[in-house]
Amino acid sequence: MASAAAATPAPVVEVRGLSKDFRGFIAVRDVTLAFAGPGLTAVIGPNGAGKTTFFNLLSGFLKPSSGQILYRGRNICGLSAQRIASLGLVRSFQITSVFTNLSVSENLVLPMQRRDGNGVEFWRSSSSLECYGLEVAALLQRVGIAEEWRDRPACLLPYGLKRALELGISLAANPDVLLLDEPTAGMAARDIGMITDLIRGLAAERTIILVEHNLRVVANLAREVVVMQQGAVLTVGSYDAVRRDPRVIEAYLGGAEPSGHA
Ligand SMILES: Nc1ncnc2c1ncn2[C@@H]1O[C@H](COP(=O)(O)OP(=O)(O)OP(=O)(O)O)[C@@H](O)[C@H]1O
Ligand SMILES: [Mg+2]
Repeated sequence: MASAAAATPAPVVEVRGLSKDFRGFIAVRDVTLAFAGPGLTAVIGPNGAGKTTFFNLLSGFLKPSSGQILYRGRNICGLSAQRIASLGLVRSFQITSVFTNLSVSENLVLPMQRRDGNGVEFWRSSSSLECYGLEVAALLQRVGIAEEWRDRPACLLPYGLKRALELGISLAANPDVLLLDEPTAGMAARDIGMITDLIRGLAAERTIILVEHNLRVVANLAREVVVMQQGAVLTVGSYDAVRRDPRVIEAYLGGAEPSGHA
């Protein structure tokens, strides 16, 4: 549950008074939230509301100007992004981060070997692909990419499958907490259905925080919705509650009630 109050069971991720100041511009302002797991919390809000910056703070890609981030009760502020990922808190990116010059399977082996602490020399060796072969096959199946894609360059994947591979790359690290930044951005309608089903399955077993402009996807998946505006949390509640909140209507769509479309 994402709420300012203490949640039961104990939150997996908790932020207290979190702020980020870019030379006087406050992109994230005094955010206090708790996320329990498993389940999915959506973070919505207009462009520039601070959603991606919030993710960058949680995942260690940016250092907070003030506040605390607790992961399983441990303050993770100041840890590197790689260290935070190795603890189990992993993010995906708003812009696709697939290595297009590598094969589909290499894109998955890379985070697996990083997870297991194996060096680049190991990755280059032929035993690496053998070692992770079964896991790669299972992951491809999980994210809905046919086996025939396995050894083909990732650049040949259609856009929807590229985003599915990106999810697979995040999953390869076997995260406890997954931060997904607009996983359906730019997708065709049929691909959105596929990725929504996939995320629903993941949310049954992990804590997922999802930034998403497509409100139909949010309505479909979110146990709870956090609405951000100008860096601050405007409100937290069920999708039905927040979409009727006059402050959300005003902030999000300038007066029109959210329709379920992005
Ligand atoms: N590195 C930075 N330096 C200065 N300002 C920044 C930086 N990163 C983000 N901002 C500003 O912080 C604000 C929040 O940006 P952010 O990318 O977090 O918004 P967002 O909610 O993810 O928006 P969108 O929905 O468009 O992805 C914006 O005004 C942005 O210009
Ligand atoms: Mg963003």
